[in-house]
Amino acid sequence: MTTSHNDASATMDLVRQRLAEAHHVCILTGAGVSAESGIATFRDPDGIWARFSPQELASMDGFMSNPDRVRDWYAHRKAIAETAQPNAGHRALAALQDVVPECTIVTQNVDRLHQRAGSRRVLEVHGNLIENRCNDCSKIRTDDEIMCPDCGGLMRPNVVWFGENLPADVFQAAEEACRRCDVLLVVGTSAEVYPAASLPYVALRAGATVVEVNPNQTSLTPHATMAIHGTSADVLPQLVPESV
Ligand code: APR
Repeated sequence: MTTSHNDASATMDLVRQRLAEAHHVCILTGAGVSAESGIATFRDPDGIWARFSPQELASMDGFMSNPDRVRDWYAHRKAIAETAQPNAGHRALAALQDVVPECTIVTQNVDRLHQRAGSRRVLEVHGNLIENRCNDCSKIRTDDEIMCPDCGGLMRPNVVWFGENLPADVFQAAEEACRRCDVLLVVGTSAEVYPAASLPYVALRAGATVVEVNPNQTSLTPHATMAIHGTSADVLPQLVPESV
């Protein structure tokens, strides 16, 4: 079914209205939100997994077989993230928290661009590129030590790898936010990686309005309350008029 311009305009108006009426807005973001900051997504045709092996670089087996290669790759990604600037989509979400009484960002992204744009409540369900964690005692450090000064264990990026559990307290808070919100925006994610991809269905079951913002269709699209086909930096500022 094609969406005429009128339909798209009516959808934007309805989403703006739902945001204006909402007490609690939750936003689930993925790599697409940082694409317009120059950070590659994972599964687009030119994405990270088209060029690098997740088994080698985003798994415990890959790390244990070549820790230096994995640490160097994450140092490279950290440098890219630190050079990148938040885009209009990040800034719109930061502005949203000053418009609605409660605003929670649940992000799969590890680049910290939401925080740099000014968002205050950000739940990082896949960790972040800034911190390293001891593989044995879980001590968090932000320096470049490769062996834990406390216990001698291997330091590794504090990013969730394939096959690993998400930080339980963070994911529980994300589920709670999705259960309690009036509107869930799902922006820039392929909605393929679980358990993060289960969150929109938690919100739907709880009766929230779930709005997907993505230039492409995803497996979530047919289940979302509404879908806006567009990019994050173009659409989000239109949904939050106060953002500049
Ligand atoms: N604005 C909005 N969405 C965009 C844009 C944009 N400018 N550009 C691309 N997208 C969409 C794509 O259509 C795709 O649906 O962003 C999505 C990116 O999907 P993925 O690359 O799969 O990224 P993500 O969903 O965040 O991946 C989830 O997978 O590899 C793991 O841990 C990694 O957190 C990541 C997780």
